[in-house]
Amino acid sequence: MSRTISIEPVTRIEGHARITLQLAETGEVEDANFHLTQFRGFEKFCEGRPYREMPALTARTCGICPVSHLLSSNKACDDLLAVTIPPTAEKLRRIMNFGQLVQSHALSFFHLSSPDLLLGWDSDPVKRNIFGVMQTDPQLAKNGIRLRQIGQSIIEILGGKKIHPTWVVPGGVSDALTEEKRQAMLAMMPDALRIAKETYAFFKTLVPKFKDEAEHFGTKPTMFMSLVTPKGNLEHYDGLLRIKDAQGRIVEDMVPPRDYQRIIGEAVEDYSYMKFPYYKPIGYPKGIYRVGPLARLNNADACGTPFADVALAEFHMLQEDSGPITSSFHYHYARLVEIIFALESIERLLKDPDILNPRIRARARGNRSEGIGVSEAPRGTLMHHYKIDDHGLISWVDLIIATGHNNLAMNAGIKQVADAYVDGNDVKEGMLNRVEAVIRCYDPCLSCASHAFGQMP
Ligand code: NI
Ligand code: MG
Repeated sequence: MSRTISIEPVTRIEGHARITLQLAETGEVEDANFHLTQFRGFEKFCEGRPYREMPALTARTCGICPVSHLLSSNKACDDLLAVTIPPTAEKLRRIMNFGQLVQSHALSFFHLSSPDLLLGWDSDPVKRNIFGVMQTDPQLAKNGIRLRQIGQSIIEILGGKKIHPTWVVPGGVSDALTEEKRQAMLAMMPDALRIAKETYAFFKTLVPKFKDEAEHFGTKPTMFMSLVTPKGNLEHYDGLLRIKDAQGRIVEDMVPPRDYQRIIGEAVEDYSYMKFPYYKPIGYPKGIYRVGPLARLNNADACGTPFADVALAEFHMLQEDSGPITSSFHYHYARLVEIIFALESIERLLKDPDILNPRIRARARGNRSEGIGVSEAPRGTLMHHYKIDDHGLISWVDLIIATGHNNLAMNAGIKQVADAYVDGNDVKEGMLNRVEAVIRCYDPCLSCASHAFGQMP
């Protein structure tokens, strides 16, 4: 008889999800689905609110990613105001975005995924968590907690609080940086960079041990999407959209975020509250692409900071051919490279004399009826798109969340891992942990990604 294995809840991710594996009579895996089981629905209940409330409202989507929503939402509001924000405000927003990237990537790597990497996929699930890491390698655990704390501190120093700061506002930021705050952030950088570089060096020694997982964790060909700078370099706050295909050819380049609807469509399925974005010119469901750290590093011609550029060159050596790095297992590697890039960038921005400039906010009323804001959240490209009526009230919202872009790829990934490791005639816990672990590579944030509405089940 055919049967279904259900993995519920999927552990060590942000939010609530279930994985189902359909097994044939022979014990082979016929199908695998990743179900998002929670529902948030911000796209619908924000309708009717004044657009200036959107940054504070949408930041509540999630306690891990409030800064990412704050930034994309304010960028959509800048667009509604039809203003260019002052250069210093942009630099300050960038610092906060990098603080968010550091805290979120540290959480993913140390707290959520290092138990698998350090203790092994088949280790006792009772110990396979951050507490088990503390027992096995106390320094690694301490480093992870410290690095996340530094990322959070950057957000707190700039925004006044760690979670849901309101310092970023339409047109810029609300308060200029003081010398005291600048020094407080600079003082943390040497410790942060030491931890980031040590962790990177340590992880490089682990990678060869996971050759088998790297070969089976979501290696099916997909495209990659991310923002890049106008020069084609790594970008997290602004920039233009680039899509590379599975062979590394650029299929879309320098696409203004305003034109995203030409290239990205959204589908819904009856088994999940998460939408299924796809690349429009190829169509659904074949137009599969990935976003996030792996995509950003595959797409970037260079990082632009010294140590991160060395690490980027090493990243490209993970695979023998010259194409994009295809295994989703290498999201971990890419995350560590990005932490280094973020810290080097924070230091550079803080040392810019212009960073203390008090001109930080452009003031205007609503000058457009439609606004689009796109930035790179830790997990990938985050799109906020609003329409407002003549009274400045929101009439329509679309949020395309980083985790959503990866939905098709995550579903393909669990199928591949299940095919490689799950024997339906003798199911072991470690097999199912590997199926969960491919999801952890993407570091999905499900609270953020649960807005399917309209044709939803
Ligand atoms: Ni989130
Ligand atoms: Mg929608």
